[in-house]
Amino acid sequence: MITITKSDIKQLISAESIQNRIKELADIINKEYNNEEIYIIGVLKGAVMFTVDLVKNLNMPVKMEFIRLSSYGSGVTSTGQVRAVDITLPDLNEKNVLIVEDIIDTGHTAKFLTEFIHSNFNIKSYKFIALLDKRCKRVVDINPDLFGFEIDDKFVVGFGLDIDENYRNLNYIGYIET
Ligand code: IMP
Ligand code: MG
Repeated sequence: MITITKSDIKQLISAESIQNRIKELADIINKEYNNEEIYIIGVLKGAVMFTVDLVKNLNMPVKMEFIRLSSYGSGVTSTGQVRAVDITLPDLNEKNVLIVEDIIDTGHTAKFLTEFIHSNFNIKSYKFIALLDKRCKRVVDINPDLFGFEIDDKFVVGFGLDIDENYRNLNYIGYIET
């Protein structure tokens, strides 16, 4: 077991860049939904920071739900197995659904969620937004409708993302040098 200290974390995306990009993304979403109500579904725990900062910049009526999934065990490699820890949702039939994720890596989580929503509800519209897109690591053929930043194959922490449950609280995104 490797212990990561703060000096092992190098800044990749500053707090200011994240906030600027979130405002840009919110502008796009505001235009797309034309003041129609949307259900924001944030994926805990990683997307919590992104979700709350994003919704603060949205203008339409917003309902917020959170689900909890886990795919990474402890450590830095995806298991490919998505576990629904808590996927309790209201009736989403005929609703606009916007899934908010921290990062798309292999794509297993995004695929699982997309299939789950479509097989359980007759939704009005479906979009998937991720703050980070690690496109180089994709194994499942799925892409977000919107994303904040594309990143290289680095393990990142901060702004919700963790390593062994630590460093979610950073207001910037850093990477761990391996
Ligand atoms: P996927 O199912 O492989 O696309 O992985 C999605 C989940 O893995 C994300 O929601 C994150 O919780 C986690 N994850 C992927 N890459 C990283 C990373 O670089 N740092 C921290 N968590 C990550
Ligand atoms: Mg996650």
